[in-house]
Amino acid sequence: SISGSSVNLIGTNDYKDTENSDVVIITAGIPRKPGMSRDDLVETNFSIMNELGNAIKEYSPNAFIICVTNPLDAMVWSLKEIAGINKQMIVGMAGILDSARFKFFLSNELSISTDSIQTMVLGGHGDTMVPLLRFTSISGIPLDEFIKKKKVSEEKVKQIVSRTRNGGGEIVALMKNSSAFFSPATSAIEMLESYFFDNKRILPCSAYLEGEYNVNGLCVGVPIIIGKNGVEEIIELELQNSEKDGLNNSIQAVEELVQKCKKLLV
Ligand code: LAC
Repeated sequence: SISGSSVNLIGTNDYKDTENSDVVIITAGIPRKPGMSRDDLVETNFSIMNELGNAIKEYSPNAFIICVTNPLDAMVWSLKEIAGINKQMIVGMAGILDSARFKFFLSNELSISTDSIQTMVLGGHGDTMVPLLRFTSISGIPLDEFIKKKKVSEEKVKQIVSRTRNGGGEIVALMKNSSAFFSPATSAIEMLESYFFDNKRILPCSAYLEGEYNVNGLCVGVPIIIGKNGVEEIIELELQNSEKDGLNNSIQAVEELVQKCKKLLV
């Protein structure tokens, strides 16, 4: 009532109460502890996805699914397999968060509002993610122009890329017994709104690929259009060799985790 909202909110431990959901956002799972990587969570969180996947199948088979649980791309894949979800109706939240961190660090360095910065982070949501400098611009002006004009050095941009890759870990190290939650939540809501209001926004999300980017049968972070039909389009960027190498390295890391999950599937 304080915020002037008359939304009816319930908390429950019973999946039955969630029956016929339009959208399901999954954040369940253990977070990492300082020093752990997202990949260390795979077995425990797989078993949680197993329970949730079966509940989705039973209670909300037509919902749009947004998964936030880590290791992200492997958990999206597992949920899709367990619940038998159509590839258009399941996505993982990572790219919006990673891009937001990248924008924030760059904004601090350039003293320019984050609102004016556009960027794209591709690949798996792990240390191998690929912030794309060539697709980073400030109100349409390529980042390269700012480097040429010495507004920011190449060295500094490299540090920002590395800080972005380790942004989740930086927060875990500060929080000690939790990982980030506010920024992942707002990122997931952005995806939800694009679906719900048919906004057709281009958002970097983990999506199931069948041939795009030469990936078959894996979920990896790529630019997609989210609208009322879920994943309405997967946008394939023409990448340069070094970008392809970075992406392939990241895909390889996702593939290894998915192999582990395949063994856990019964
Ligand atoms: C992060 C976690 C949520 O990047 O993966 O903060």
